[in-house]
Amino acid sequence: MLIDNYKVASPNVTETEEAVTASYNYESTDIEQAKDGSWVVTPTHTQYEFKTHKQLPKLGVMLVGWGGNNGSTLTASILANKKGITWMTKEGLKKPNYFGSITQASTCRVGNYRGEEMYVPMSSLLPMCNPNDLVIGGWDISSANLAEAMQRAQVLDFELQRQLVPFMKDLTPLPGVYDEDFIAANQSERADNVVKGSKKEQMETIRQQIRDFKEASQVDKVIVLWTANTERYSSVAEGLNDTAENFLASIDKNEAEVAPSSLYGAACVLEGVPFINGAPQNTLVPGLIELAVQRNVLIGGDDFKSGQTKLKSVLVDFLVGAGFKPTSIVSYNHLGNNDGMNLSAPQTFRSKEISKSNVVDDVVASNSILYGPGEHPDHVVVIKYVPTVADSKRAMDEYISEIFMGGRNTLAIHNTCEDSLLAAPIILDLVLLAELIGRIELRKDGQEAFRGFHPVAVLLSYLTKAPVVPQGTPVINALGKQRAMLENVLRACVGLQPDNSMLLELK
Ligand SMILES: NC(=O)c1ccc[n+]([C@@H]2O[C@H](COP(=O)([O-])OP(=O)(O)OC[C@H]3O[C@@H](n4cnc5c(N)ncnc54)[C@H](O)[C@@H]3O)[C@@H](O)[C@H]2O)c1
Repeated sequence: MLIDNYKVASPNVTETEEAVTASYNYESTDIEQAKDGSWVVTPTHTQYEFKTHKQLPKLGVMLVGWGGNNGSTLTASILANKKGITWMTKEGLKKPNYFGSITQASTCRVGNYRGEEMYVPMSSLLPMCNPNDLVIGGWDISSANLAEAMQRAQVLDFELQRQLVPFMKDLTPLPGVYDEDFIAANQSERADNVVKGSKKEQMETIRQQIRDFKEASQVDKVIVLWTANTERYSSVAEGLNDTAENFLASIDKNEAEVAPSSLYGAACVLEGVPFINGAPQNTLVPGLIELAVQRNVLIGGDDFKSGQTKLKSVLVDFLVGAGFKPTSIVSYNHLGNNDGMNLSAPQTFRSKEISKSNVVDDVVASNSILYGPGEHPDHVVVIKYVPTVADSKRAMDEYISEIFMGGRNTLAIHNTCEDSLLAAPIILDLVLLAELIGRIELRKDGQEAFRGFHPVAVLLSYLTKAPVVPQGTPVINALGKQRAMLENVLRACVGLQPDNSMLLELK
């Protein structure tokens, strides 16, 4: 049963008008190797205190690539939800919703009431901004207004589009930073809305655009998210972008290898504005990460985890967890939207291939009963551009696993991933959670001052294909673990233990 009128009654929680503070006993382990080579695993208990500020800001979201399929679909869907627009289809009347958003459409178990399992909406655990209240803006190198962009995207039903046009026709993207060297040549035709000048001047223009947006829309906070075309990888080299200082110097020197996406990232960090990369390329070069850490500005990425990879990060975890040994994972995709056209160039495809390739690494490394040192399943990713299927991407996967006594199990999966309808709620979650993370502070027992989370936002990993993590932090791709991390941190903030599934009270 779902309840949303509830409070957590715990002596460890204090709540004022400004903040909710919870002390939390974190159970973990210490691992040491003894002299005889054996390992000693010792349970540890650390007291933490979480303080979450409750005041919700008026939140502005600036999308880079606002006029793309994702950007226009998200904008249209928020408007439809906000205005309660319904539309007829051959299947009957449809109502707007936020399905596919973990914050808006998923629940968390809080316990058992007289034999019945009780759940609350994830969005009710802590105060979160309401998606309907977001103020959206952003950039696009194509000057099409958002109504035209929505029609060009061919994602939403015609009847819905028709009703949304009046609300979207006056939304026009800001000119964006375009560098034809970084995206496919087939994108040049739509680049009619671009910022001129040197890299430094372009970055300063973006900074000014952010300030102007904030001023004009009277928002308290802005979050910027890259949902523009996938770029090629940029080189990472000593002296170029390996440190914050060298990265900023390269921008000053108009160094050709600084990607547009990294310029947006730099502009955001210098403005103290969170920046999230939803595409696969290495926007977050080491120098940009160092800059964000130095200035304590949230960054997150890379690449929305929406369809094929999301399933893979569940399925491989299930197979390996069940003691099966995946030996071959082959993933074909074809898609016919503008993203697919851009990915048809080898250098942008390569970015996607890299981002999709590491997704099983942590799962494989977790089980050396199955895999010997250095052993890895064959893993191939193919992406083809097929205009007919438009935004309705087909992902066809074959998983071959070695099972009991030399046997083989083969799973062949056909997944029709409505690309932008899957990505738009993820963008929403990234924005809402990035905002929330900025309001949470924590301190360990014995520490005087509260601090925020590390600026490299690992808590967003559930939503990204190739999570960027702080140095020395393990990359977790398995979807179940990523969800548990997020849910459990939110629970800890209100004094609830992780849901450990033991159900001892019923046994
Ligand atoms: N399921 C998904 O849709 C999904 C999943 C993972 C990642 N992604 C990534 O999200 C991104 C967006 O996907 P989409 O389907 O909306 O693509 P799209 O091609 O429809 O939209 C991208 C938009 O970005 C604009 N653009 C390109 N370079 C720009 C720049 N430098 N500044 C400002 N605007 C710029 C383009 O004009 C276009 O309107 C792609 O990189 C894609 O790989 C999408």
